[in-house]
Amino acid sequence: MTDQASSRILVTSALPYANGPVHLGHLAGAYLPADIFVRYQRLRGRDVVFICGSDEHGVSILLSAREEGVSPRDIIDRYHQRNKEAFEKIGMSFDNYSRTSLPIHHETALEFFHDLKEKGILKQRKEKQLFDEKAGMFLPDRFVMGTCYHLRSDGTKCEYPTAYGDQCEQCGNSIDPLKLIDPVSVLTGTKPTVRETTHWYFPLGDYQERLEQYVEEHADVWRENVLQQCRSWLKEGLEDRPITRDLDWGVPVPTDDGSKKVLYVWFEAVLGYISSTKEWAAKQETPDLWKEYWCKPDTRYIAFIGKDNIVFHCLMFPAMLMAKGGYVLPENVPANEFLNLEGRKFSKSRHWTIDLEEYLEEFPPDLLRYALALNFPETKDTDFYWKDFQARSNNELADILGNFINRTVHFAHKHFQGKVPPPGELNERDREFLATFQATADSVAQSYESYRFREGVGRTMNLARAANKYFNDSEPWVTIKSDPVRCATTINISLQAIHSLMIFFEPVLPFTSRDIRSLLGFPEEYTFHWEIGYSPALVEGHQLGEQKILFEKISDEVIAKYVDALGRLPAEEQEKTWPNAPLKSMITIDDFGKIDLRIAEIFEAERIKKSKKLLRLKVRIGEHERQIVAGIAEHYEPESLIGKRVVVVANLKSAKLFGVESEGMVLAATNEDGELTLLVPERDIETGSIVK
Ligand code: MF3
Ligand code: ZN
Repeated sequence: MTDQASSRILVTSALPYANGPVHLGHLAGAYLPADIFVRYQRLRGRDVVFICGSDEHGVSILLSAREEGVSPRDIIDRYHQRNKEAFEKIGMSFDNYSRTSLPIHHETALEFFHDLKEKGILKQRKEKQLFDEKAGMFLPDRFVMGTCYHLRSDGTKCEYPTAYGDQCEQCGNSIDPLKLIDPVSVLTGTKPTVRETTHWYFPLGDYQERLEQYVEEHADVWRENVLQQCRSWLKEGLEDRPITRDLDWGVPVPTDDGSKKVLYVWFEAVLGYISSTKEWAAKQETPDLWKEYWCKPDTRYIAFIGKDNIVFHCLMFPAMLMAKGGYVLPENVPANEFLNLEGRKFSKSRHWTIDLEEYLEEFPPDLLRYALALNFPETKDTDFYWKDFQARSNNELADILGNFINRTVHFAHKHFQGKVPPPGELNERDREFLATFQATADSVAQSYESYRFREGVGRTMNLARAANKYFNDSEPWVTIKSDPVRCATTINISLQAIHSLMIFFEPVLPFTSRDIRSLLGFPEEYTFHWEIGYSPALVEGHQLGEQKILFEKISDEVIAKYVDALGRLPAEEQEKTWPNAPLKSMITIDDFGKIDLRIAEIFEAERIKKSKKLLRLKVRIGEHERQIVAGIAEHYEPESLIGKRVVVVANLKSAKLFGVESEGMVLAATNEDGELTLLVPERDIETGSIVK
């Protein structure tokens, strides 16, 4: 690997909204890849600053506050703290985790705003906007919902029925709320009226050419998904963008008409990277140090994000930085696609989610880091399956990496008094194996430098695979009797391999790496560089530490518990949610028409092994047969269901539950005590009959 021109690297991860707990989907998007990158770069001795923080403004915070009946301040205080702690526990090595509600951020954002205003770049404009007469307020962004009006690239209409006023989650396009079909206020469910208001605009269109050039200059290193999105935006032609909102939550800005306005959350949130770096510099009493990273042209700035943030980071933010002048632009914006969960999108409201906090209550952080890394949605959406997680932990971390380390260290304690035995004379196999250390490190480095983290972590595990093979082929348990000198060599080299694995695995398994350090008998202060792992580093006679099992196996029962919990509300939430939960927001008759409800007859029913709650059902819907996994095992004996007619959703996209294909859903009602009843037709009617 040749070194990059500058060793000063600024890394940012998208600032998560402080309106809910961070879940595994978030982690796999903008956070874990960045942490692996940063840890790797630090091991290469590069000067890295790693920046993040909470995004605490915007309509999504207000909506969460409203839903919970508390103030926005309560929401951000709670989730900022919780997310910060969860990130620490999972090993995110941020240098600073700031908040956009801090004065340092408001000042930074306003400095940008005023500078651009004084330069005459920002323009004030009168415009029409949706207004909720009942709530007495304008409806920016997510305060309004309606049907998407965009055409997809293949010419078909998007028509996503629940597109928000800022962005459509189906086609990814940004939304002009005035163009939404059948708009509805999220606050009152009423149809909004149109009123006039004044806003500040950023002339994104003026930066079209410069942005085209900027994007194309990086075409050989940016990811395909990122380039594609940028090019399609640029092809459509960039338009001026309003950067203020009629809200009283955010960074307040002056207006000519004296109305209360704040900066649009995206305009100021991206500047949160800068204010967080300022805060970091101030904390260590070198207040100007942030400029080294943001204003020196040879800084490499890498911005990690999820795919829904591409336009803001690749077009809007760079244009803002160009307008301000004197700032570095992102060299790369490695955006991940989405991670789904067991075949479906993560959803807080349907409790189809795994919060980081919840995960950490049960499992060690490294297992998740490893399983996610091998499944990062780098080029397409991927799925997290609990079964995969278990397999990665048990069959790879425990059986390959853990096993190799255990048997080697065990052997050294048993036969060499826990000391590194003499290397002796090397044979062909020894030399070949030793050569794989640097070869692995170089190939892993290449993967990491090109943001292919799945590949890099996979390659790292290959060294552990090779180590196991080396140990097996060398048969130290035979040579200990027949040729003790040879045996000493094998154990020496195996211990050297553990030392190298400790280094190369550090970016993805930082906690395990620490455990290995103590296993090898090194004190906490022991630090290392990437390159140290290329060749043997343990000296003969070095005293090893105490033996310790690195990975405990995960049982089927534990995994079953988590799969069962999907889609169910935790007990403490049930109470306040049922049955007096607020009704969901309005849908149209067309939305309802999309759901194909049918009468079906159950002709097979059996328990799913290891799951307390799930039954596998087979149903007949007219001429069709379907397999459906239903969470009703605690309420119905399988035998009692045969011949029963029920209502099913017949056109639900299939998903795997507990490894079993489910092609629909059986309707049932539940109350707050967790009682459940299936919905059955009141009179006999043939299967396949339409329910509406
Ligand atoms: N809070 C946004 C989200 O979760 C990300 C903001 S990134 C920032 O999608 F740079 F704008 F802060
Ligand atoms: Zn759309």
